Amino acid sequence: MQKRLATDIFSEWAMIGKDEGMQKGHFNSVNEMLSIVDLSLKKGFSAIDVGCGNGWVCRRLSNDERCRKVVGIDGSEEMIRKAKSFDSNIDFYHALLPEWKPNEKFDLIHSMEFLYYLKKPLDMLKEFYEYWITPGGIFIAGIDFYLENEDSHSWPERLNVHMTKLSIDEWEKGLMNAGFKNIEIHQVASTNDFIGTLVLKGEKLK
Ligand SMILES: C[S@@+](CC[C@H](N)C(=O)[O-])C[C@H]1O[C@@H](n2cnc3c(N)ncnc32)[C@H](O)[C@@H]1O
Repeated sequence: MQKRLATDIFSEWAMIGKDEGMQKGHFNSVNEMLSIVDLSLKKGFSAIDVGCGNGWVCRRLSNDERCRKVVGIDGSEEMIRKAKSFDSNIDFYHALLPEWKPNEKFDLIHSMEFLYYLKKPLDMLKEFYEYWITPGGIFIAGIDFYLENEDSHSWPERLNVHMTKLSIDEWEKGLMNAGFKNIEIHQVASTNDFIGTLVLKGEKLK
């Protein structure tokens, strides 16, 4: 059976309100991710949330008084329609990755549960480093589908969608090869039956 596009599935989820459950499910991990970068964020920082879904992380960042500008991008039309309906002051773009590029660079690139939907996520890391992030900027991404999280291995078949499964080591090497420095790998928000969200952090030095 032909695989479905992730963005079509998430548009269906947006239409039946499943984006809200996803927001709740990702909340603890995103909290920890934002606290990892918090001290590095300067007054006037700009941010982009990649695979922003209904835009909840963008809304949260826009409430940070140091944040000058926040942008969200997602390939699901319905997610973006919903995001815009919640806050028309934030720039939300409907675009498919890896083809799309922003026309400016950002001090913070944030992404939660997006990267592994790409066929070549490590190439996307190179794109981020080259075209998306300012010198001195920070990249942080959370991933629940990875080799060491065995419970996640059934997801591609269950959803009939492509997911790229990489190990912690492969992600770390991917960040290095893309050019990122001060790389940190965390596993956050673990519970008794969850090994934790894999968090990738890297910086582009000035
Ligand atoms: C698991 S959801 C996470 C949404 C949001 N980050 C959150 O935490 O609620 C993954 C998102 O990535 C988007 N996405 C998947 N593949 C994409 C692609 N190739 N280009 C752009 N967006 C994509 C989906 O539309 C979906 O909204």
